Amino acid sequence: MFFQELPLKKIEMMGPEVCRLGFASREIAGKARPGQFLMIKPQAWAEPLLPRPISIHRVQGGMVELLVRVVGEGTRRISSMRPGEILEVKGPLGRGFQVDPQKVPLLVAGGMGAAPLLFLAEKLSRSGARKKNRAPVLFIGGRTKKEILALKEFRQAGLKVLAATEDGSFGERGLVTDRLRDYLEAQSAESALYACGPVGMLKAVAALALKEGLPCQVSLEERMACGMGACLGCAVARKQEEGPGYAKVCQDGPVFEAGEIVWDE
Ligand SMILES: Cc1cc2nc3c(=O)[nH]c(=O)nc-3n(C[C@H](O)[C@H](O)[C@H](O)COP(=O)(O)OP(=O)(O)OC[C@H]3O[C@@H](n4cnc5c(N)ncnc54)[C@H](O)[C@@H]3O)c2cc1C
Ligand code: FES
Repeated sequence: MFFQELPLKKIEMMGPEVCRLGFASREIAGKARPGQFLMIKPQAWAEPLLPRPISIHRVQGGMVELLVRVVGEGTRRISSMRPGEILEVKGPLGRGFQVDPQKVPLLVAGGMGAAPLLFLAEKLSRSGARKKNRAPVLFIGGRTKKEILALKEFRQAGLKVLAATEDGSFGERGLVTDRLRDYLEAQSAESALYACGPVGMLKAVAALALKEGLPCQVSLEERMACGMGACLGCAVARKQEEGPGYAKVCQDGPVFEAGEIVWDE
């Protein structure tokens, strides 16, 4: 884990609420694994506010990219940074996706869930998964077309894309899990699911995986204060052999086996 103060190299708006920013760090780029995250904050952020957890979206050479949706004060400040301003970065943090190379990877992204899954898709592409007749498939969904992110990059990474939007403005009308269900009912290849998105979507993906007997990893989001296992602010209920327990999303996750999570609490 590194703590670095890095000048922002680029920042571009992807729409009214989402920006993609990039900085150079050979150390973080060399260590980062898909599904891990960084705690970030602008150095010029004078008030004693906490850094925010943001997934690693892309690693290219020594460049690290993040995708940020503005939801409150912290993400608004981050998205209004300009190239050359200093970003304080701690990470990479947490446990990422553990890919089973024997199975066809099925990636399921809801809205901002596309952020960590592009890193996974590009890593799979570089590892040659597409050459071995096990081309990964991306199921991507959102309320409207505006919420479908990084589509061009997923396609460039060689993924077959199956999209759904609730208003029908892109892909099929409906939920991304409808497309996943139809696909799983029709196919017979050995697959593994890797999902990130709203908790309702993750719960539905976990239920489909259980029904089909497929391994499934989900990336969870919780509010975080320390990001390093010290404050217990990110605890979620977890099934354990000895009875109910809890897990820290920042340290034991954010990626978990879907079967570990208590979905109904
Ligand atoms: C492991 C992890 C990875 C993440 N990756 C990304 C990413 O790649 N891109 C991205 O844009 N965001 C990501 N997030 C969410 C991001 O951290 C929050 O949106 C951000 O901290 C909000 O800060 P804020 O000051 O803008 O909003 P606040 O003012 O703190 O909150 C604004 C609103 O958002 C809600 N909120 C804040 N944090 C969360 C959260 N973690 N989960 C659910 N609701 C929340 C609050 O309840 C409130 O309603 C990630 C979160 C985690 C835990
Ligand atoms: S954020 Fe502090 S323990 Fe997870």
